[in-house]
Amino acid sequence: MPLRVVITRRLPTIAQQLLQARGIAYACLEELGLLSHVGIVEQSTGAAALLTTLRERVDRRVLDAAGESLRVVSNCAVGFDNIDVVECARRGIYVTNTPGVLTNATADLTWALILAVARRVVEGDSLVRSGGWTGWEPLQLCGLEFDGATLGIIGAGRIGSAVARRAGGFGMRILYVARGVRPELESACAAQRVSLDRVLDEADVVTIHLPLTDETRHLISEAQLVRMKPTAILVNTARGPIVDEEALVRALRSGQIAGAGLDVYEDEPRLSSGLADAPGVVLLPHLGSASVRTRERMARMAAENVISVLEGRMPPNPVNKPALGRTSRDRAEPRP
Ligand code: DGY
Repeated sequence: MPLRVVITRRLPTIAQQLLQARGIAYACLEELGLLSHVGIVEQSTGAAALLTTLRERVDRRVLDAAGESLRVVSNCAVGFDNIDVVECARRGIYVTNTPGVLTNATADLTWALILAVARRVVEGDSLVRSGGWTGWEPLQLCGLEFDGATLGIIGAGRIGSAVARRAGGFGMRILYVARGVRPELESACAAQRVSLDRVLDEADVVTIHLPLTDETRHLISEAQLVRMKPTAILVNTARGPIVDEEALVRALRSGQIAGAGLDVYEDEPRLSSGLADAPGVVLLPHLGSASVRTRERMARMAAENVISVLEGRMPPNPVNKPALGRTSRDRAEPRP
């Protein structure tokens, strides 16, 4: 029986082309009009692989429905908080992601948000379009200037580091929060590793680049926002639930901070009450990795992870270590 891959959502065509070239059968739920949690549960039965995006929840219900045949859940994203990774490992199922290929695109978009919020680009655009602009004024829409300002990076992995490297051209001082020292960041950008509190106290721009875990959920809440300068801005292109959105709305409304740039939300695509009308906010629809080149690379990588597992090899980008058991046989078994 041909191996069956369930692709949840339409991806750049390279993903399907790679599977086709290997003679691997697949079905795309979005193309079939079956994309919902129930649809995924129903269509996963007997699947050898699930090729998912960050929007699909891969929980025990999906895993139970897929059953013994499932060998890999390949997420077309670097984040994988949508997948029950521990349960997959327990059942001998690989979980894979797409690291590295979206670093530059996400760092670029982070800067787009930083610039837009700091220099009030969206407010300016609205003023011009509204017909209410009466000409240049000395006090009109003045914002934050970067030269000599402090950039605070929370999470100095691939994306956080790429954001730091881009700050050099703006003449910013860089502080970062990370579990360990990043010598390359310190030498390349004169960045300094400090505590979270110090970043919040001193940074003019605070930008978040962490995965969503139990530890990082609501890492930035009321107590942290209170520490920030009233002129500072907060940017989040990582995962929405890292920021307590209700606390953020209060901080923006009360002038506790000057603005926020968000690409991700606590409960996407829903916005917390008051967020859309809060002052100084720029909101994007989770576009971090949305360049043509990056999305193609992600799709290619996600398909290659599937193909490797189905052909009996280690996937290039595993995020878990499946327990040995039924799939140790599958993993070693070349595809017929
Ligand atoms: C990811 O890959 O985790 C981003 O959030 C979407 O590209």
